Amino acid sequence: MHGIIFVELKKFADSRLGNEGWNEVLKDSGIGQKMYIPIQEYPDDEAVSILSAISTRIGRPLPYVLEEFGEFIVPGLIRMYKALIKPEWGALDLVEHTEQTIHSVVRIKNPGAKPPELKCSRPSQDEVVISYTSPRKMCAIAKGIMKGVAKHYNEQVLITEKTCMLSGGSSCSISMRLIK
Ligand code: HEM
Repeated sequence: MHGIIFVELKKFADSRLGNEGWNEVLKDSGIGQKMYIPIQEYPDDEAVSILSAISTRIGRPLPYVLEEFGEFIVPGLIRMYKALIKPEWGALDLVEHTEQTIHSVVRIKNPGAKPPELKCSRPSQDEVVISYTSPRKMCAIAKGIMKGVAKHYNEQVLITEKTCMLSGGSSCSISMRLIK
């Protein structure tokens, strides 16, 4: 997984567990001392072990931690890729255009990175529906990112997951509806 995810994981661990949080979860997850840098790729297993260690330490289930982490990383992602984000977009537009405008560029610029495929539809101006498929099955991160994007734009949204890969679906269908 992309190094930016690990840089954000460190900030997330420290914010939830205090200054020593990162070192503690690296120890818990059996990784030991390691420096992650944003321009490199790292094994997915390490991200999962770190997130699981955070989940154990804060006593919350893994999907809860994944969702919180998704929300947490949005400001960092937006900062790093702001050149790709059109100034006229709102939260639903950013989600709708992530696949063609953002994840596709991440794949080209970072050949090791494999952001998930998001198929999007826009049933109305007030709703965007994503169909998420990824072997990582991290739809909780997707829901957290959607929350974080809404927060970034100061918009109120309702997020609902209609089908989920973790319950046997072939994809996760997640709707984000604007509340006016
Ligand atoms: C500013 C917007 C965004 C940027 C810059 C961005 C970038 C990235 C990057 C760099 C990764 C790591 C991929 C890897 O290392 O293989 C990633 C993963 C991911 N992205 Fe995005 N993303 C954005 C928006 C979104 C949105 C709107 C969603 C869903 C609604 C989303 C869903 C995910 C998920 C769930 C992952 C975790 C990996 C997986 O499930 O396979 N992203 N994204």
